[in-house]
Amino acid sequence: TQAPVNVTVTGAAGQIGYALLFRIASGQLLGQDTPVKLRLLEIPQAVKAAEGTALELEDGAFPLLQGIDIFDDATKAFDGVNVGLLVGARPRTKGMERGDLLEANGGIFKPQGEAINAGAADDVKILVVGNPANTNALIAQAHAPDVPKERFTAMTRLDHNRAQAQLAKKLGVNVADVKKLTIWGNHSATQYPDIFHAEVGGKNAAEAVGDQKWLEDEFIPRVAKRGAEIIEARGASSAASAANAAIDHVYDWVNGTAEGDWVSMGIPSDGSYGVPEGIISSFPVTTKNGSYEIVQGLEIDEFSRGKIDASVRELTEERDAVKQLGLI
Ligand code: NAI
Repeated sequence: TQAPVNVTVTGAAGQIGYALLFRIASGQLLGQDTPVKLRLLEIPQAVKAAEGTALELEDGAFPLLQGIDIFDDATKAFDGVNVGLLVGARPRTKGMERGDLLEANGGIFKPQGEAINAGAADDVKILVVGNPANTNALIAQAHAPDVPKERFTAMTRLDHNRAQAQLAKKLGVNVADVKKLTIWGNHSATQYPDIFHAEVGGKNAAEAVGDQKWLEDEFIPRVAKRGAEIIEARGASSAASAANAAIDHVYDWVNGTAEGDWVSMGIPSDGSYGVPEGIISSFPVTTKNGSYEIVQGLEIDEFSRGKIDASVRELTEERDAVKQLGLI
């Protein structure tokens, strides 16, 4: 068997952390051949709760789990990291302006970027889950100049999975029959879930639906505002589904996407599809041998163009705001 992979999880005592850690320990993040060592990062006040979770992880008797260390210091937590799941973030509280939110998160993701730069393994892969995920990933990336830029990604896989489930429900098919969906742009309400290139049972999904009104008035807003729907119903934000999406994102990045399908990942733009180079925006990607490639050559009609541009505009505004604050 292989040497254990160091997986650092920030915000380990939070609700996503609780749903995520047991699945990592059971081998679902990397595969059933890969032993893992967990490195948990929390703020000092939450270290005790993280220790409690570690006791439960021990009680899971997971054969692939070869160690758990808990830290309140980012430099230590990211030492030797192969896979970093950056979940802990500063949530928006009542009356908080966007600038304040970005600044508070800068205080988290700047030192974490520096810690990754200082200690990460050569093959490090980073997934930012904590919101605003795309811009937090940009901040961390800016402070890790020695790490290849493409190793910093943001999670739009939950949006992708949500879109896949809603489309399957509409067409009365199994989710596995829905392929080539794309989330474009920001992990926010401006995101654009695109079904025009998606396939259902080998047929074009938009044609199979044949209902532009449903697409515009129901599907797109439902997917984009699903987070709020969950909060309304559950009294707490999406946690197990977010953890599930984080597992999917990393598993596919490491193990490759299936032939004839792709996934959505927030990744640094190379300028494809008119998305300004450098911003971390969601694209359709295929993965192989631990790296990813943007799916090229998709035709973007006027409707899709407008939606992509609007979300990308929001991302460039966030980038400009963090630049102004001196965070990147
Ligand atoms: P939570 O509030 O339950 O947990 C967050 C944890 O992060 C807390 O235990 C807190 O102590 C910790 N934390 C705060 N600052 C930290 C730091 N500097 N270092 C290490 N840990 C720190 O929140 P939950 O529900 O687990 O969500 C976490 C984040 O994920 C939120 O920002 C949420 O908005 C985001 N999210 C993103 C989704 C996506 O699709 N990209 C989906 C769902 C949630």
